[in-house]
Amino acid sequence: MGNDKIIVNDNEVFKVFITEEDIRKRISEIAAELNRDFRDRVPIFIGILNGSFIFMSDLIREITIDCEIDFFKLSSYGDAKISSGNVRMLKELNCEVEGRDIIIVEDVIDSGLSIAYIHKLIMQQNPKSFNVVTLLYKKSAAKVDFPLAYVGFEIPTEFVIGYGLDYAQKWRNLRSIYVLDPSTDGEASVTGED
Ligand code: IMP
Ligand code: MG
Repeated sequence: MGNDKIIVNDNEVFKVFITEEDIRKRISEIAAELNRDFRDRVPIFIGILNGSFIFMSDLIREITIDCEIDFFKLSSYGDAKISSGNVRMLKELNCEVEGRDIIIVEDVIDSGLSIAYIHKLIMQQNPKSFNVVTLLYKKSAAKVDFPLAYVGFEIPTEFVIGYGLDYAQKWRNLRSIYVLDPSTDGEASVTGED
């Protein structure tokens, strides 16, 4: 199952926080809800790149109803561990949103700025419905002014990596989710993509 501790930049220690097995179980529970709630509809799952690519691919293979798939690519520049609040679109949608059931697939909602930007953009195109599936939700950090119906795990406002989530673009390939031990936080500063 890999290491239960990872050392980054010589001194920052990350520990296993959510195991591969717990992620898998939670995803099948969420998928069961989606299969039930969107039965007889054909929703479009829209993954937010890059962070959601692993979650999206695991979730979608548990979806048994007819569905379509598309991706947005967003970028926010700033510190490697803090969202800058400047959200930019790097890849637009190919699908027609009007009259469709839209399900956004996110890795994590932190400040809530990215999801607010996406919500606004999608609502301008008159979808039939708008829903968000997020694997992780930093509830105390986020300001979200619409209901979040599908949340994998509510987590504290701490920095996590693995299972698609990066630290300065690395560590997305870890199979479990790891959390930074705050006492070892080295505050690296780089720019990057979500
Ligand atoms: P926001 O602050 O809710 O806009 O989150 C923006 C994006 O920052 C998320 O979609 C993630 O890609 C990234 N992000 C937020 N928190 C973390 C984290 O703890 N680890 C890695 N990436 C994160
Ligand atoms: Mg993201």
